[in-house]
Amino acid sequence: SFGDYTTIVVFGASGDLAKKKTFPALFGLFREGHLPKTIQIIGYARSKLEDDDFKDRISKNFKGATEETKKEFLSLVSYISDPYDTDEGYIKLRKACESYEEKHGVKNPHRLFYLALPPSVFTVVCKQLKKEVYAGETRIIVEKPFGHDLESARALQRDLAPLFTEEELYRIDHYLGKEMVKNLLVLRFGNTMFSGIWNKSNIASIQISFKEAFGTEGRGGYFDSIGIVRDVMQNHLLQVLTLLTMDRPVSFDPEAVRDEKVKILKAIEPIDTEDLLLGQYTKSEDGTKPGYLDDDTVKPDSKCVTYAALGLSISNERWDGVPIVLRAGKALDESKVEIRIQFKPVAKGMFKEIQRNELVIRIQPNEAIYLKINSKIPGISTETSLTELDLTYSTRYSKDFWIPEAYEALIRDCYLGNHSNFVRDDELDESWKLFTPLLKHIESSENDIPLVKYAYGSKGPDHLRKYLEKHNYVFDEPGSYQWPLTSPS
Ligand code: BG6
Repeated sequence: SFGDYTTIVVFGASGDLAKKKTFPALFGLFREGHLPKTIQIIGYARSKLEDDDFKDRISKNFKGATEETKKEFLSLVSYISDPYDTDEGYIKLRKACESYEEKHGVKNPHRLFYLALPPSVFTVVCKQLKKEVYAGETRIIVEKPFGHDLESARALQRDLAPLFTEEELYRIDHYLGKEMVKNLLVLRFGNTMFSGIWNKSNIASIQISFKEAFGTEGRGGYFDSIGIVRDVMQNHLLQVLTLLTMDRPVSFDPEAVRDEKVKILKAIEPIDTEDLLLGQYTKSEDGTKPGYLDDDTVKPDSKCVTYAALGLSISNERWDGVPIVLRAGKALDESKVEIRIQFKPVAKGMFKEIQRNELVIRIQPNEAIYLKINSKIPGISTETSLTELDLTYSTRYSKDFWIPEAYEALIRDCYLGNHSNFVRDDELDESWKLFTPLLKHIESSENDIPLVKYAYGSKGPDHLRKYLEKHNYVFDEPGSYQWPLTSPS
């Protein structure tokens, strides 16, 4: 673990990510006593800001802050504003590290660099960092995008490889820091009842769904060249799928886990570009919410995909023939991320009608795992009904329980030197290999890809239900299942 006298440097410190996620996460860790009170934190960016303005800016999103803890935390923070491509700023930074280390008699420096940077300056910062500030034990957290496709991701890797070792790099996919995502391996491999049935003999279909109730307002310029597939599917949803389908690692050792992740990624079949459902949102039905194209920062005739559903299949012994759907959309009716696993039906035999079991793992909001099961309706009835075994975190665990935010969990892991929940180079390469042909297909001007329009605030493209049914997802019979149950009076 990094010790009491560590310097944490946040590059891109005046940017949105630093303001919304990185500094609030550092503060949260500090508040909970997971960062020593003796570290120093330096923000680095181009914007000219006075120290106080900078501190005001970053502390706007602090949660659970008393005046005292906020003050205490901010007293550890300072700001350097300088260009990214010249030496001066980095020399200042080095001096700030050295004088702090000298003051505390640190022989072997511990320096953690957090790069919350746009791709255009990423490589130059890494080079300067290596040249001017690299010393002792170094850890570097890097943020997506890690490239735009396989080719650019590899080019980025080639730029970084001579500068830092894989051991020094921590590639963030913040979904790996989410509580329920971290629970997947425990749930699967720590329960015989799940590990035993986790295969094609018992599972009929898998769905991973990401829904957001807001559009790209204010971020259109960024999103327009990215699209939903690159924004959340190639990374976040694929990570979830990997943890959900990989084989049992020999231990929780980071390399053991990541070896299995790479193996399963290699077994995923190329994505069938004929089997897609792509959409872009329009104004809300009541006209109060803007359509994607109403944003001045996007191209007027943009074909950017804001909704996508795609089918995957894994050709190994465990999963052969099991349909898997990843779907993600912006500007929908609700914000929710969940996994749905449907099990094969039992032989009808003694039952006239019997529904399938379904395991739902809700990643957010309100973490929950529930298993829909058939049970006899209590009392004199002999009929069955669908009910659930339910583990809802908010009712099962005390409210005082601290569940770290994804970024808090990951920065803490990095501080402790644990790579388990970070993306390894070969894992990244496999994910781009899988998604690049699909992205090329969607984005090539020659393929006039049909984009289904859906209204802001709706459930998404009309064909969704059919699409899911085609992938062996069976909807509950109308009225047969209700969630959440109304509590008995
Ligand atoms: C980011 C995407 O990586 O993940 C955003 O760029 C998206 O577009 C976000 O909104 C979702 O993260 P979370 O933690 O809010 O589910």
